[in-house]
Amino acid sequence: MASRSGLRYWPRVLAASLNARPEVAAPPDVTFEDEGVGRCRALLAAGHRVMVGVAGGSGSGKTTLAQELVQVFGDELSCLVMQDSFYVDQSARFDGDGGSVNFDHPSSLDFELLEGQLRALRHGVSVEVPHYDFATHRRLSRTTPLQARPLVVVDGTLILDSALVRPLFDVAVFVECAEAVRFSRRLERDVRERGRTPAGVHKQFHLQVKPMHDEFVEPSKRHAHLCVAGTEALATSMHRVLEQVAARQPASL
Ligand SMILES: Nc1ncnc2c1ncn2[C@@H]1O[C@H](COP(=O)(O)OP(=O)(O)O)[C@@H](O)[C@H]1O
Ligand SMILES: [Mg+2]
Repeated sequence: MASRSGLRYWPRVLAASLNARPEVAAPPDVTFEDEGVGRCRALLAAGHRVMVGVAGGSGSGKTTLAQELVQVFGDELSCLVMQDSFYVDQSARFDGDGGSVNFDHPSSLDFELLEGQLRALRHGVSVEVPHYDFATHRRLSRTTPLQARPLVVVDGTLILDSALVRPLFDVAVFVECAEAVRFSRRLERDVRERGRTPAGVHKQFHLQVKPMHDEFVEPSKRHAHLCVAGTEALATSMHRVLEQVAARQPASL
């Protein structure tokens, strides 16, 4: 939920929709467990490799779902790849939030590198994931080794828009969420965790996040095998994703 002080940065249209927006449940904190977990765990342990893409708008609930998936299966069976690690270094061009650098446009991301790393992980080959620093908009020189695991979960706004990356998913999930809810969640996160000002978050949302969402993210939903709601109980989304994981034959790529 947006803090009361954050609300004054909302444009009139969002403020008006605040009353009408759906109830936002408290953030989920219970680790999911049902029979689907056991079924998938057995498949993964038997050598079944599955790549799950979790797409959707910023603030929709992608990372919550993606993290729950890898938490449930653990480090031995699963690994998580974040689209956010694959931003192109834009430190030389950056001139302020909502300025000339559009971080929400597909060209801000190195999908060729992401594709290469996902193909390696599919084949059981470990990778060195790049590090992107949100404070300086820089790709750091250090990388983080990531061991290939049977279940690879990929989290990102534009992973279903990218024609390079999209075919790699055995299960492509899109997390749907109303704009007003996504904005309030993003405002809170960027101020608290990314050192942004409310005014900067507001400007970036309306100049870049929203137009890019409408142009690229939302239309990419048509490529999803499964849509879940980013405001429903996490257990409900998990159950539906695990059904798909258990049912899919891995793509031969
Ligand atoms: N199903 C849900 N119900 C209620 N709150 C949720 C749900 N999923 C995510 N949230 C909350 O919404 C916020 C944004 O979620 P996050 O997963 O970080 O979104 P994204 O990765 O798509 O930007 C977080 O505070 C998270 O706890
Ligand atoms: Mg996220």
